[in-house]
Amino acid sequence: ESVDWQAEDAERDGFEHYMLKEIHEQPSALERAVNGRVTAEGDVHLEDFPSGSFAGVDDVQFVACGTSYHAALYARQLLAERGVPAQVFSAGEYATTPAPVDENTLVVAVTQSGETADTLASVRQADAAGARTLAVTNVVGSTAARECDDALFIRAGPEIGVAATKTFSSQVAVLSLLVERLTEDITGSPGEDRAGLLRALDRLPGDVQQVIDQSGPAGLADRFRDREGHFFIGRGVGFPVALEGALKFKEITYEHAEGFAAGELKHGPLALVTPDTPVFAVFTGRHDEKTLHNVEEVQSRGATVVGVGSEATPEVAATVDDFLPIPDTHPAAAGVLANVQLQLVSYHVADLLGRSIDKPRNLAKSVTVE
Ligand code: G6P
Repeated sequence: ESVDWQAEDAERDGFEHYMLKEIHEQPSALERAVNGRVTAEGDVHLEDFPSGSFAGVDDVQFVACGTSYHAALYARQLLAERGVPAQVFSAGEYATTPAPVDENTLVVAVTQSGETADTLASVRQADAAGARTLAVTNVVGSTAARECDDALFIRAGPEIGVAATKTFSSQVAVLSLLVERLTEDITGSPGEDRAGLLRALDRLPGDVQQVIDQSGPAGLADRFRDREGHFFIGRGVGFPVALEGALKFKEITYEHAEGFAAGELKHGPLALVTPDTPVFAVFTGRHDEKTLHNVEEVQSRGATVVGVGSEATPEVAATVDDFLPIPDTHPAAAGVLANVQLQLVSYHVADLLGRSIDKPRNLAKSVTVE
Protein backbone atom coordinates (compact mmCIF):
# COMPACT_ATOMS: atom_id res chain seq x y z
CA GLU A 1 0.00 0.00 0.00
CA SER A 2 2.69 2.48 0.94
CA VAL A 3 4.36 1.77 -2.41
CA ASP A 4 1.17 2.71 -4.23
CA TRP A 5 0.87 5.82 -2.19
CA GLN A 6 4.42 6.88 -3.02
CA ALA A 7 3.91 6.19 -6.71
CA GLU A 8 0.77 8.28 -6.67
CA ASP A 9 2.48 11.03 -4.79
CA ALA A 10 5.25 11.12 -7.37
CA GLU A 11 2.67 11.42 -10.11
CA ARG A 12 1.19 14.35 -8.29
CA ASP A 13 4.58 16.06 -8.52
CA GLY A 14 4.45 16.90 -4.83
CA PHE A 15 1.03 18.56 -5.06
CA GLU A 16 -1.44 17.47 -2.43
CA HIS A 17 -4.14 16.79 -5.02
CA TYR A 18 -4.32 16.12 -8.76
CA MET A 19 -6.73 19.03 -9.03
CA LEU A 20 -4.14 21.47 -7.71
CA LYS A 21 -1.48 19.95 -9.97
CA GLU A 22 -3.80 20.31 -12.95
CA ILE A 23 -4.63 23.91 -12.07
CA HIS A 24 -0.89 24.55 -12.07
CA GLU A 25 -0.49 22.76 -15.42
CA GLN A 26 -2.73 25.26 -17.19
CA PRO A 27 0.06 27.45 -18.57
CA SER A 28 1.73 24.49 -20.31
CA ALA A 29 -1.61 23.01 -21.42
CA LEU A 30 -2.59 26.35 -22.96
CA GLU A 31 0.79 26.59 -24.63
CA ARG A 32 0.14 23.24 -26.34
CA ALA A 33 -3.46 24.15 -27.20
CA VAL A 34 -2.39 27.18 -29.20
CA ASN A 35 1.08 26.09 -30.32
CA GLY A 36 1.43 26.18 -34.11
CA ARG A 37 -2.20 27.19 -34.51
CA VAL A 38 -1.54 30.90 -34.95
CA THR A 39 0.83 31.88 -37.78
CA ALA A 40 3.45 34.64 -37.65
CA GLU A 41 1.15 36.64 -39.96
CA GLY A 42 -1.63 36.42 -37.36
CA ASP A 43 -3.73 33.82 -39.16
CA VAL A 44 -5.45 30.84 -37.60
CA HIS A 45 -3.91 27.53 -38.66
CA LEU A 46 -6.07 24.59 -37.56
CA GLU A 47 -4.46 21.48 -39.10
CA ASP A 48 -7.42 19.75 -40.81
CA PHE A 49 -9.45 22.94 -41.09
CA PRO A 50 -7.90 25.42 -43.50
CA SER A 51 -9.74 28.59 -44.44
CA GLY A 52 -12.98 27.62 -46.21
CA SER A 53 -13.41 24.30 -44.35
CA PHE A 54 -16.77 25.42 -43.01
CA ALA A 55 -18.01 27.20 -46.13
CA GLY A 56 -21.71 26.48 -46.56
CA VAL A 57 -22.38 25.97 -42.84
CA ASP A 58 -25.41 28.08 -41.90
CA ASP A 59 -26.28 26.64 -38.50
CA VAL A 60 -23.93 25.84 -35.61
CA GLN A 61 -25.19 23.66 -32.73
CA PHE A 62 -23.03 22.80 -29.74
CA VAL A 63 -23.85 19.74 -27.62
CA ALA A 64 -22.07 19.08 -24.33
CA CYS A 65 -22.40 18.27 -20.62
CA GLY A 66 -21.06 19.74 -17.39
CA THR A 67 -17.93 21.83 -17.65
CA SER A 68 -17.77 21.22 -21.40
CA TYR A 69 -21.25 22.72 -21.67
CA HIS A 70 -19.88 25.88 -20.08
CA ALA A 71 -17.00 25.97 -22.57
CA ALA A 72 -19.59 25.69 -25.36
CA LEU A 73 -21.57 28.61 -23.88
CA TYR A 74 -18.33 30.60 -23.86
CA ALA A 75 -17.80 29.83 -27.56
CA ARG A 76 -21.37 30.79 -28.41
CA GLN A 77 -20.84 34.15 -26.74
CA LEU A 78 -17.70 34.77 -28.81
CA LEU A 79 -19.57 33.81 -31.99
CA ALA A 80 -22.47 36.11 -31.11
CA GLU A 81 -20.04 38.99 -30.58
CA ARG A 82 -18.78 38.31 -34.12
CA GLY A 83 -22.25 38.24 -35.65
CA VAL A 84 -22.49 34.45 -36.01
CA PRO A 85 -25.56 32.86 -34.43
CA ALA A 86 -25.09 29.50 -32.71
CA GLN A 87 -27.05 27.38 -30.26
CA VAL A 88 -25.85 25.40 -27.26
CA PHE A 89 -27.71 22.32 -26.05
CA SER A 90 -27.33 20.31 -22.91
CA ALA A 91 -26.60 16.92 -24.47
CA GLY A 92 -28.99 15.12 -22.11
CA GLU A 93 -31.80 17.22 -23.57
CA TYR A 94 -30.61 17.06 -27.17
CA ALA A 95 -30.40 13.28 -26.99
CA THR A 96 -34.14 13.09 -26.35
CA THR A 97 -35.28 16.23 -28.22
CA PRO A 98 -32.79 16.92 -31.01
CA ALA A 99 -32.94 20.23 -32.89
CA PRO A 100 -33.74 20.14 -36.60
CA VAL A 101 -30.62 19.78 -38.76
CA ASP A 102 -29.68 19.47 -42.43
CA GLU A 103 -26.45 19.05 -44.37
CA ASN A 104 -25.52 22.70 -43.69
CA THR A 105 -25.71 22.22 -39.93
CA LEU A 106 -22.47 21.80 -38.01
CA VAL A 107 -22.98 19.94 -34.73
CA VAL A 108 -19.99 20.43 -32.43
CA ALA A 109 -19.62 17.93 -29.58
CA VAL A 110 -17.49 19.47 -26.85
CA THR A 111 -16.29 16.60 -24.67
CA GLN A 112 -13.07 16.24 -22.72
CA SER A 113 -13.24 12.45 -22.57
CA GLY A 114 -15.01 11.86 -25.86
CA GLU A 115 -17.01 9.15 -24.04
CA THR A 116 -19.95 10.94 -22.38
CA ALA A 117 -23.04 8.91 -23.25
CA ASP A 118 -25.44 11.84 -23.66
CA THR A 119 -23.02 13.69 -25.91
CA LEU A 120 -22.39 10.61 -28.04
CA ALA A 121 -26.15 9.96 -28.32
CA SER A 122 -26.62 13.56 -29.48
CA VAL A 123 -24.03 13.40 -32.25
CA ARG A 124 -25.33 10.02 -33.39
CA GLN A 125 -28.81 11.53 -33.75
CA ALA A 126 -27.43 14.53 -35.62
CA ASP A 127 -25.33 12.34 -37.88
CA ALA A 128 -28.29 10.11 -38.73
CA ALA A 129 -30.33 13.23 -39.59
CA GLY A 130 -27.66 14.36 -42.05
CA ALA A 131 -25.70 17.01 -40.12
CA ARG A 132 -21.95 17.45 -40.24
CA THR A 133 -20.36 16.52 -36.89
CA LEU A 134 -17.18 17.72 -35.22
CA ALA A 135 -15.68 16.51 -31.93
CA VAL A 136 -13.67 18.97 -29.85
CA THR A 137 -11.99 16.61 -27.42
CA ASN A 138 -8.92 15.86 -25.35
CA VAL A 139 -8.71 12.17 -26.16
CA VAL A 140 -7.31 11.02 -29.48
CA GLY A 141 -8.96 7.72 -30.35
CA SER A 142 -12.01 8.40 -28.18
CA THR A 143 -15.45 7.35 -29.40
CA ALA A 144 -16.40 10.96 -30.21
CA ALA A 145 -13.18 11.48 -32.17
CA ARG A 146 -13.75 8.27 -34.14
CA GLU A 147 -17.46 8.65 -34.79
CA CYS A 148 -17.67 12.33 -35.71
CA ASP A 149 -16.87 13.44 -39.26
CA ASP A 150 -13.96 15.49 -37.92
CA ALA A 151 -12.03 16.01 -34.69
CA LEU A 152 -10.14 18.93 -33.20
CA PHE A 153 -7.91 18.11 -30.24
CA ILE A 154 -7.38 20.34 -27.23
CA ARG A 155 -4.04 18.73 -26.22
CA ALA A 156 -4.48 19.37 -22.49
CA GLY A 157 -2.84 16.09 -21.48
CA PRO A 158 -4.40 13.59 -19.06
CA GLU A 159 -6.70 15.01 -16.39
CA ILE A 160 -7.16 12.80 -13.31
CA GLY A 161 -9.17 15.07 -10.99
CA VAL A 162 -12.90 14.48 -11.49
CA ALA A 163 -13.48 18.25 -11.46
CA ALA A 164 -12.35 19.54 -14.86
CA THR A 165 -9.87 22.43 -14.67
CA LYS A 166 -7.13 22.55 -17.26
CA THR A 167 -9.37 20.96 -19.87
CA PHE A 168 -11.88 23.84 -19.54
CA SER A 169 -9.15 26.40 -20.21
CA SER A 170 -7.82 24.40 -23.16
CA GLN A 171 -11.32 23.91 -24.57
CA VAL A 172 -11.94 27.65 -24.46
CA ALA A 173 -8.59 28.40 -26.13
CA VAL A 174 -9.15 25.91 -28.95
CA LEU A 175 -12.81 26.88 -29.34
CA SER A 176 -11.68 30.52 -29.66
CA LEU A 177 -9.56 29.53 -32.66
CA LEU A 178 -12.48 27.54 -34.08
CA VAL A 179 -14.70 30.60 -33.56
CA GLU A 180 -12.29 32.64 -35.66
CA ARG A 181 -12.31 30.03 -38.44
CA LEU A 182 -16.12 29.77 -38.35
CA THR A 183 -16.53 33.55 -38.35
CA GLU A 184 -14.34 33.89 -41.43
CA ASP A 185 -16.01 31.00 -43.28
CA ILE A 186 -19.58 31.93 -42.39
CA THR A 187 -19.50 35.74 -42.63
CA GLY A 188 -16.80 36.00 -45.33
CA SER A 189 -14.49 38.14 -43.21
CA PRO A 190 -12.37 37.62 -40.09
CA GLY A 191 -13.69 38.80 -36.72
CA GLU A 192 -12.94 42.51 -36.46
CA ASP A 193 -10.80 42.10 -33.35
CA ARG A 194 -9.06 38.92 -34.49
CA ALA A 195 -5.58 40.36 -33.97
CA GLY A 196 -6.42 41.39 -30.41
CA LEU A 197 -7.92 38.01 -29.57
CA LEU A 198 -4.98 36.08 -31.02
CA ARG A 199 -2.51 38.28 -29.14
CA ALA A 200 -4.43 37.60 -25.92
CA LEU A 201 -4.36 33.82 -26.57
CA ASP A 202 -0.64 34.02 -27.12
CA ARG A 203 -0.20 35.79 -23.77
CA LEU A 204 -2.66 33.55 -21.95
CA PRO A 205 -0.16 30.97 -20.57
CA GLY A 206 1.92 33.74 -18.97
CA ASP A 207 -1.18 35.53 -17.70
CA VAL A 208 -2.53 32.33 -16.11
CA GLN A 209 0.86 31.77 -14.49
CA GLN A 210 0.63 35.23 -12.97
CA VAL A 211 -2.78 34.43 -11.46
CA ILE A 212 -1.46 31.16 -10.01
CA ASP A 213 1.61 32.88 -8.56
CA GLN A 214 -0.47 35.48 -6.68
CA SER A 215 -2.37 32.71 -4.84
CA GLY A 216 -4.99 35.27 -3.72
CA PRO A 217 -7.83 32.81 -2.96
CA ALA A 218 -5.81 30.84 -0.38
CA GLY A 219 -6.11 33.73 2.07
CA LEU A 220 -9.84 34.25 1.52
CA ALA A 221 -11.06 30.66 1.74
CA ASP A 222 -11.76 30.69 5.46
CA ARG A 223 -14.56 33.21 4.95
CA PHE A 224 -16.58 30.85 2.79
CA ARG A 225 -17.07 28.00 5.26
CA ASP A 226 -20.50 27.38 6.74
CA ARG A 227 -22.34 29.95 4.67
CA GLU A 228 -25.91 29.51 3.56
CA GLY A 229 -25.14 29.67 -0.14
CA HIS A 230 -22.63 31.01 -2.64
CA PHE A 231 -23.68 32.90 -5.75
CA PHE A 232 -21.67 33.57 -8.88
CA ILE A 233 -22.66 36.24 -11.41
CA GLY A 234 -21.27 37.51 -14.70
CA ARG A 235 -22.29 38.70 -18.16
CA GLY A 236 -20.96 38.01 -21.65
CA VAL A 237 -18.26 35.34 -21.32
CA GLY A 238 -18.44 36.09 -17.60
CA PHE A 239 -21.81 34.29 -17.51
CA PRO A 240 -20.48 30.81 -18.41
CA VAL A 241 -17.57 31.50 -16.07
CA ALA A 242 -20.08 32.22 -13.28
CA LEU A 243 -21.84 28.92 -14.05
CA GLU A 244 -18.52 27.08 -14.09
CA GLY A 245 -17.40 28.78 -10.85
CA ALA A 246 -20.58 27.59 -9.14
CA LEU A 247 -20.32 24.07 -10.61
CA LYS A 248 -16.75 23.68 -9.40
CA PHE A 249 -17.74 25.00 -5.97
CA LYS A 250 -20.61 22.55 -5.53
CA GLU A 251 -18.68 19.61 -6.98
CA ILE A 252 -15.78 19.76 -4.56
CA THR A 253 -16.96 21.70 -1.45
CA TYR A 254 -20.45 20.05 -1.32
CA GLU A 255 -21.77 23.47 -0.34
CA HIS A 256 -24.67 25.15 -2.07
CA ALA A 257 -23.64 27.31 -5.01
CA GLU A 258 -25.49 28.76 -8.00
CA GLY A 259 -24.40 30.74 -11.02
CA PHE A 260 -26.59 33.37 -12.67
CA ALA A 261 -26.44 35.81 -15.54
CA ALA A 262 -25.84 39.08 -13.67
CA GLY A 263 -28.96 40.62 -15.23
CA GLU A 264 -31.18 37.76 -14.03
CA LEU A 265 -30.43 38.35 -10.36
CA LYS A 266 -33.27 40.77 -9.86
CA HIS A 267 -35.73 38.35 -11.48
CA GLY A 268 -35.74 35.90 -8.59
CA PRO A 269 -32.37 34.92 -7.16
CA LEU A 270 -32.14 38.27 -5.32
CA ALA A 271 -34.72 36.88 -2.88
CA LEU A 272 -32.03 34.47 -1.66
CA VAL A 273 -29.38 37.13 -1.06
CA THR A 274 -28.60 37.83 2.61
CA PRO A 275 -25.50 38.72 4.66
CA ASP A 276 -24.90 34.96 4.77
CA THR A 277 -24.61 34.46 0.99
CA PRO A 278 -21.30 35.65 -0.46
CA VAL A 279 -21.49 36.69 -4.12
CA PHE A 280 -18.63 36.21 -6.58
CA ALA A 281 -18.83 38.69 -9.47
CA VAL A 282 -16.87 38.16 -12.70
CA PHE A 283 -15.65 41.23 -14.62
CA THR A 284 -14.19 40.83 -18.09
CA GLY A 285 -13.77 44.46 -19.13
CA ARG A 286 -16.96 44.42 -21.21
CA HIS A 287 -20.07 46.02 -19.67
CA ASP A 288 -18.40 46.07 -16.26
CA GLU A 289 -20.49 49.08 -15.24
CA LYS A 290 -23.68 47.02 -15.53
CA THR A 291 -22.26 44.22 -13.39
CA LEU A 292 -21.08 46.81 -10.85
CA HIS A 293 -24.67 47.93 -10.60
CA ASN A 294 -25.69 44.33 -9.80
CA VAL A 295 -22.95 44.23 -7.17
CA GLU A 296 -24.45 47.28 -5.48
CA GLU A 297 -27.86 45.58 -5.52
CA VAL A 298 -26.57 42.61 -3.54
CA GLN A 299 -24.40 44.73 -1.25
CA SER A 300 -27.46 46.72 -0.23
CA ARG A 301 -28.99 43.38 0.93
CA GLY A 302 -25.95 42.85 3.10
CA ALA A 303 -24.04 40.37 0.92
CA THR A 304 -20.27 40.47 0.73
CA VAL A 305 -18.93 40.58 -2.82
CA VAL A 306 -15.72 39.09 -4.14
CA GLY A 307 -14.92 40.71 -7.48
CA VAL A 308 -12.69 38.97 -10.01
CA GLY A 309 -11.48 41.40 -12.63
CA SER A 310 -8.67 43.23 -14.32
CA GLU A 311 -6.06 44.84 -12.12
CA ALA A 312 -6.56 47.88 -14.35
CA THR A 313 -10.12 48.57 -13.18
CA PRO A 314 -9.88 50.65 -10.00
CA GLU A 315 -13.64 51.33 -10.01
CA VAL A 316 -14.32 47.58 -9.66
CA ALA A 317 -11.67 47.11 -6.98
CA ALA A 318 -13.06 50.10 -5.05
CA THR A 319 -16.65 48.84 -5.03
CA VAL A 320 -16.30 45.13 -4.21
CA ASP A 321 -15.47 43.91 -0.70
CA ASP A 322 -12.62 41.64 -1.79
CA PHE A 323 -10.82 41.76 -5.09
CA LEU A 324 -9.05 38.94 -6.94
CA PRO A 325 -7.08 40.61 -9.74
CA ILE A 326 -6.31 39.20 -13.17
CA PRO A 327 -3.87 40.67 -15.72
CA ASP A 328 -5.38 43.25 -18.07
CA THR A 329 -6.21 41.52 -21.37
CA HIS A 330 -8.79 41.10 -24.14
CA PRO A 331 -12.27 40.40 -22.67
CA ALA A 332 -12.41 37.06 -24.52
CA ALA A 333 -9.37 35.83 -22.58
CA ALA A 334 -10.30 37.57 -19.31
CA GLY A 335 -12.97 34.93 -18.68
CA VAL A 336 -10.36 32.16 -18.64
CA LEU A 337 -8.22 34.10 -16.16
CA ALA A 338 -11.19 34.85 -13.90
CA ASN A 339 -12.09 31.16 -14.01
CA VAL A 340 -8.63 30.21 -12.73
CA GLN A 341 -9.17 32.46 -9.70
CA LEU A 342 -12.52 30.74 -9.08
CA GLN A 343 -10.96 27.26 -9.46
CA LEU A 344 -8.52 28.24 -6.72
CA VAL A 345 -11.33 29.56 -4.49
CA SER A 346 -13.18 26.23 -4.75
CA TYR A 347 -10.00 24.24 -4.23
CA HIS A 348 -8.97 26.08 -1.08
CA VAL A 349 -12.45 26.03 0.48
CA ALA A 350 -12.78 22.28 -0.26
CA ASP A 351 -9.32 21.71 1.21
CA LEU A 352 -10.21 23.57 4.42
CA LEU A 353 -13.38 21.49 4.70
CA GLY A 354 -11.36 18.30 4.19
CA ARG A 355 -13.37 17.17 1.18
CA SER A 356 -12.43 14.36 -1.18
CA ILE A 357 -11.19 16.79 -3.78
CA ASP A 358 -9.97 14.49 -6.53
CA LYS A 359 -12.89 12.07 -6.24
CA PRO A 360 -15.95 13.95 -5.00
CA ARG A 361 -18.80 11.85 -3.67
CA ASN A 362 -21.34 10.63 -6.24
CA LEU A 363 -19.41 11.97 -9.24
CA ALA A 364 -17.45 10.28 -12.03
CA LYS A 365 -14.84 11.63 -14.40
CA SER A 366 -16.64 10.22 -17.37
CA VAL A 367 -20.36 9.42 -17.38
CA THR A 368 -20.95 6.61 -19.86
CA VAL A 369 -24.63 5.99 -19.11
CA GLU A 370 -27.53 8.12 -20.38
C1 G6P B 1 -18.71 14.38 -15.87
C2 G6P B 1 -17.52 15.06 -15.21
C3 G6P B 1 -17.49 16.55 -15.54
C4 G6P B 1 -17.52 16.75 -17.04
C5 G6P B 1 -18.72 16.04 -17.68
C6 G6P B 1 -18.63 16.05 -19.20
O1 G6P B 1 -19.89 14.82 -15.26
O2 G6P B 1 -17.56 14.89 -13.81
O3 G6P B 1 -16.32 17.15 -15.01
O4 G6P B 1 -17.54 18.12 -17.34
O5 G6P B 1 -18.77 14.67 -17.28
O6 G6P B 1 -17.52 15.27 -19.57
P1 G6P B 1 -16.85 15.34 -20.99
O7 G6P B 1 -15.78 14.28 -20.95
O8 G6P B 1 -17.91 15.02 -22.00
O9 G6P B 1 -16.31 16.69 -21.18
